[in-house]
Amino acid sequence: MSLIRIIVSAIYVVAQVLLVRPSLVEGRQTRNLLTGTLGHHHDTDLPRFAEEIQNVTVSVGRDALLACVVDNLRHYKVAWVRVDTQTILSIHQNVITQNPRISLTYNDHRSWYLHIKDVQEVDRGWYMCQVNTDPMKSRQGYVQVVVPPSIITKETSTDMVVREASNVTLTCKATGYPEPYVMWRREDGKNINYNGESVNVVDGEVLHIVKISRLHMGAYLCIASNGVPPSVSKRVSLRVQFPPMLSIPNQLEGAYIGQDVTLECHTEAYPNSINYWTTERGDMIVSGNSVSGDKYEAISTDSGYNKYMMLKIRNVGPKDFGSYKCVAQNSLGGTDGVIKLDGKSRNDNKKDNL
Ligand SMILES: *[C@@H]1O[C@H](CO)[C@@H](O)[C@H](O)[C@H]1NC(C)=O
Ligand SMILES: *[C@@H]1O[C@H](CO)[C@@H](O)[C@H](O)[C@H]1NC(C)=O
Repeated sequence: MSLIRIIVSAIYVVAQVLLVRPSLVEGRQTRNLLTGTLGHHHDTDLPRFAEEIQNVTVSVGRDALLACVVDNLRHYKVAWVRVDTQTILSIHQNVITQNPRISLTYNDHRSWYLHIKDVQEVDRGWYMCQVNTDPMKSRQGYVQVVVPPSIITKETSTDMVVREASNVTLTCKATGYPEPYVMWRREDGKNINYNGESVNVVDGEVLHIVKISRLHMGAYLCIASNGVPPSVSKRVSLRVQFPPMLSIPNQLEGAYIGQDVTLECHTEAYPNSINYWTTERGDMIVSGNSVSGDKYEAISTDSGYNKYMMLKIRNVGPKDFGSYKCVAQNSLGGTDGVIKLDGKSRNDNKKDNL
């Protein structure tokens, strides 16, 4: 601090010579002020800070204003000093620093305002308002520069395609000031089965899933926040690949001659499988584009990695009894299941009614 004082004193001398003298000649008011105050020189007449310097919190890119209010300044001078870098910013009515973002305004020889335009992180720190009494009087205020969070794309995971049962790590890095809080959650808001626990949010930069399952498939959001708006997020889609699996609600169906019957089959696969029906002999059943009157109508409904297959057989005849197969295939493999269609006789019907 004493170094600053020496520098400040030296600059006061220079400033007196270079800057203050001409203004004495130019300005009657200044001269009157100086001569007027020289008359009563008591300690009680010394300059006094009218208030503390208020700390300022400002978002990067905005402007900051520090106020130093001194009563009874008389012929003394006010300087603004950057404490951390030991830089003199202004003396009296003159800006000393080369920093073009810094300017000074003043009112009534009492209020001295330091303006910092387009605040940057380097501006964070203590600022001191000094009056060149002996001993020097000073007050200081802190400029807090906050930075909204931003996600570091290079260090953050991108969309992923993985095999089921593998271990997966998603990473998200963010900067900002104060240091952002980072968390992961699913975009659809559903809970995540996180290594044995069902959680809505995973705190931290890393989402590490051991033995991933198809239920983990979906879009994930990494959200970074630090209290400085706006919070930011990045979307990462996670796709889990697995070969087709198949289940059949009824493996044995019965129908009367002349009846319509529907066979059902449910499959799961990612990437989405190609599904079809075959006859007992393995001939692919060609569905008649749902035009009425066709023998077969195959309908398939997709929902995520699920497929519901239905085969409608119209006007069942003796030749239709036998086995049918539903088949699902994707790049990772294939599977099939058998459904047996039996004829019901009139006697069966009577038994049913009993
Ligand atoms: C400014 O902040 C400092 C610490 O960060 C604190 O000691 C001081 O009282 C604050 N000044 C005002 C005027 O609030
Ligand atoms: C996945 O992680 C678990 C536990 O850390 C480990 O036992 C297993 O071998 C890992 N599996 C693979 C495929 O790396």
